Amino acid sequence: MLDTLGIALIGCGTVGGGVADVLLRHGDRLAARAGRSLALRRVVVRDPAKLRDVPVPADIVSTDHAAAIHDPAVHVVVELMGGTTTAKKVVLDALAAGKHVVTANKALLAEAGHEIFEAARRAERAVCFEAAVAGGVPIIRALGESLAANQVTAIQGILNGTSNFILTAMAERGMTYAAALAEAQRLGYAEADPTLDVDGSDAAHKLAILAQIAFGVTAKPTDISRQGIDTLDAMDIRFADELGYTIKLLAEAWTSGTRNAEPGVRNEKQPDSSGSALRTPHSALGVALHVAPVLLRHTDLLAQVRGAYNAVLVRGDVVGETLYQGPGAGRGPTASSVLADLIDLAVGRAQRTFAAAQLWSKASKGFAIEPPERVRSRFYLRLLVADKPGVLADVTRILADEQISISSVVQHEAAESGGSPVPLVIVTHAAETGRFKLALAKINRLATAAAPAVFFSMGD
Ligand code: NAP
Ligand code: HSE
Repeated sequence: MLDTLGIALIGCGTVGGGVADVLLRHGDRLAARAGRSLALRRVVVRDPAKLRDVPVPADIVSTDHAAAIHDPAVHVVVELMGGTTTAKKVVLDALAAGKHVVTANKALLAEAGHEIFEAARRAERAVCFEAAVAGGVPIIRALGESLAANQVTAIQGILNGTSNFILTAMAERGMTYAAALAEAQRLGYAEADPTLDVDGSDAAHKLAILAQIAFGVTAKPTDISRQGIDTLDAMDIRFADELGYTIKLLAEAWTSGTRNAEPGVRNEKQPDSSGSALRTPHSALGVALHVAPVLLRHTDLLAQVRGAYNAVLVRGDVVGETLYQGPGAGRGPTASSVLADLIDLAVGRAQRTFAAAQLWSKASKGFAIEPPERVRSRFYLRLLVADKPGVLADVTRILADEQISISSVVQHEAAESGGSPVPLVIVTHAAETGRFKLALAKINRLATAAAPAVFFSMGD
């Protein structure tokens, strides 16, 4: 048997505690899978006196990052502390000291992937990050290895467990947004700063990582347009339901012309009768990246992903459409992915795939990032307008001026309101996002508009 693989855990909270627990309780199983023992040598935390639910031996716990990183018995540093400042230093110091790194820190990779991966290549060490996207779902391996023969043409993902948990709790249990968020925090799904979960930033970080693997693009935060669920009104969840739709926070990557293409251009979402994705022409060299609540038909597979579960739909030019689903947050699922990375390092697989992939490398020629304004979609538009003659006509004229055709209109019958505001919901046919936003700006300027219009893309 090979020498023991020595591990330093930096962070022993929700995820780190789960990793320590399995290392301590299931050492034999891990050794059998890895062909060598995995030993927890050091655990670094903020407060060593804190009571923990995992029996980590007290003599290996400290606050000393440097001692853990430079310990000659440590071969892999597992960064599970979160944040991007100290965590970045820990990761770069570990690589400089010749240690492999495993991390679940999507914010760090999205912000400093290039610097970290270049440092790893210089040090001839590997950085593994299966746990950084979709928790327990092995989407990094699926995209980077199992689908390696494909050019990915589109990705649609439910990538934030906290947001999906909140949306499910609001829709199915009638919970308030605040109560659902508090429950997600209690269950260990949310980030230390839950704003990142609910404003779309966490999903955008994960989309940036997937886009690096699938399209070779290094997306800056401003390259990914984002809207979260923090401003979502329960009224829209109800209207969507009435129309036959569920609202999900989706992270999406569409290569040129693959979403609701112009009439006459084949839409890849509808496979031809032969079912062969290979027949679909795509000369796309551009990709639009965005995160936003989207209305999905109740029957859509992604609409049925509930609670803290994540799901990622990946379309490849050889394979066609594939779907990956599982628990996207929390102790066990995330620890499972971290431990898979540790086994891969112990076996020696991770080092080889890391070197071959050349992620976040200047050498790789990626797709150009396209503005989301060019993506075509149907839209759900909810207005709060004065209930008086001519209002609907004004709105429909503005949409017509931008060549946007209406698919349906919902206004509930109300008692004579004397012109006080009532909700008006309009669903459009496919239109370019940019044109739709121009119309929206004009609608918001109408004297009869009582509040800014609310809009979401429709998934069909
Ligand atoms: P957490 O429960 O807040 O745990 C953070 C751990 O880091 C704690 O043990 C804390 O020490 C330690 N820590 C914080 N600052 C430190 C410092 N300066 N030096 C040493 N240790 C420090 O966080 P988590 O939920 O496990 O998340 C960890 C990472 O995994 C984050 O990057 C997160 O985005 C990612 N992630 C989380 C999940 C999830 O479901 N929770 C899923 C996927 C990825 P104390 O215990 O002493 O406070
Ligand atoms: N806070 C994240 C989520 C954890 O809710 O999805 C998993 O990355």
